[in-house]
Amino acid sequence: MIIAIDGPAASGKGTLAKAVAAHCGLAHLDSGLLYRAVAKSLIDRGCPLEDEDAATASAASLDLSKLEAATLRGAPMGEAASRIAAYPSVRAALVDLQRSFACQPGGAVIDGRDIGTVICPNAEVKLFVTASAEERARRRWRELVLGGAPLDYDTVLADIRRRDERDSTRSASPLRQAPDAILIDTTNLDAQAALSAALAVIAEKKRTRREPADIAPRGPAKTELPHISEKP
Ligand code: C5P
Repeated sequence: MIIAIDGPAASGKGTLAKAVAAHCGLAHLDSGLLYRAVAKSLIDRGCPLEDEDAATASAASLDLSKLEAATLRGAPMGEAASRIAAYPSVRAALVDLQRSFACQPGGAVIDGRDIGTVICPNAEVKLFVTASAEERARRRWRELVLGGAPLDYDTVLADIRRRDERDSTRSASPLRQAPDAILIDTTNLDAQAALSAALAVIAEKKRTRREPADIAPRGPAKTELPHISEKP
């Protein structure tokens, strides 16, 4: 089963994707790391982020097995990734890699911005995870404070809004909820409640395709899930 999870920065989609993959015994790819790795390779070589050809060449030679997540985290790399992610040629160079990952035996969970719309339009389960910009900024701000690199909340909120704007207005594969994706709004959900919501969607999908629901939720959700709705 291919499970596509999209959403904006700090929506909780990465945490959810990891938990779903662990629960379902599926491989997981955080596709944001690909764009971060391309941006980092330009920065490391002193190339400007405006150099689309260099970014495309770097994307075309990316090796999934060599991605080092720890060196790619952080808001500045996310901002740089968002800039090179707007180039259609960079995105095109990363399509096959993501589709091959998705098509491995058993399936996979991939999270990103365009997984349900462009990379895996036929994914059996599509989730769109979001939260208010203020709540996402609060989460990011708290991470920064705990990590010992505090920034003021208004700066973090402005960063989040800028990235949302760039990711959703670019012409190539903009951040969008696929028409058949289920919305999970995590503004008032903790990670466990979001996981329960996602597993309920997956179990329902399995039930309706008349196969044994081997991904049944482990019990009733601890929290009510009033924020789940299907986009009309
Ligand atoms: O998810 P993450 O914050 O790591 O992504 C960094 C940036 O990479 C995003 O802001 C977005 O511009 C880009 N990205 C994308 N498509 C994806 C994943 C990430 O454009 N599938």
